[in-house]
Amino acid sequence: MLKIVGLVENTTESPNLKCKHGLSLYIETERHRILFDMGPNDLFLENARKLGVDIASIDIAIISHGHVDHCGGLKGFLKGNSTARIYIRPQALERHYVKVLGIPFYAGIDKTLVSGGRFVFTEDLCVVDDEITLLSNDIRRFGLPKSDDNLFVKRGGRLVPDDFCHEQNLLISSEGRHILVCGCAHSGIVNIINKAKNIIGAYPTDVIGGFHLYEPVAKRYEDPLYIDSVACELERSKASYYTCHCTGIEAFDKMKPRLGCRLAYLHTGTEIRL
Ligand SMILES: [Fe+2]
Ligand SMILES: [Fe+2]
Repeated sequence: MLKIVGLVENTTESPNLKCKHGLSLYIETERHRILFDMGPNDLFLENARKLGVDIASIDIAIISHGHVDHCGGLKGFLKGNSTARIYIRPQALERHYVKVLGIPFYAGIDKTLVSGGRFVFTEDLCVVDDEITLLSNDIRRFGLPKSDDNLFVKRGGRLVPDDFCHEQNLLISSEGRHILVCGCAHSGIVNIINKAKNIIGAYPTDVIGGFHLYEPVAKRYEDPLYIDSVACELERSKASYYTCHCTGIEAFDKMKPRLGCRLAYLHTGTEIRL
């Protein structure tokens, strides 16, 4: 039995749990206790305490990409856990920016925290063991979300459009299921699912995470036609979807009629058992 708990998400299902824009998920598998992302600050620690999740016992931490709403809690994690290996793409240490009204704001990781033997710098494909695989995504056949256009990386002293090679996703293969977990899906949720499909040889059975259909800074959704085209692609598989964070509630509502009970929302405090 797999257990997934929303430690931090943009919304909450309980008045006892605070929420904040960002993502942090606790995942318990047969063999591992995993932290997938750490949210924007120490809130994941506070919520973990309230939800009975023991952060010290986590053995694998994964940083999905180098944006602060996913890795801002790293300092707190290093204090609360002294043993887990932390898997991160080396490109996540580059300087990432978001532009607001044309002005760039730093939105990246505090890379002074990333030192020592606990950090594992991952390649495009990183097979941790029979159960855990990390994959980044180079398939870009399906159009990327428009809101990616606001995101930049500093290279050679200049801001250039982010290519999202700092992004990685988690694939858990256990008990006949293949569960794909994404952070923001900047490289396109449909593309990431297809990459996972290439690896597994079939569609994932479950997909969890943000689908990047909402831009939080400008508070703008992707075009309704784009959202519907994503929903159409998601409909092709037999997967169940538990989405959150940068999908946004309105985009969730737009996709719901197509996907029906195969689509559910994961809030802060939601517990899923698979
Ligand atoms: Fe992001
Ligand atoms: Fe995000």
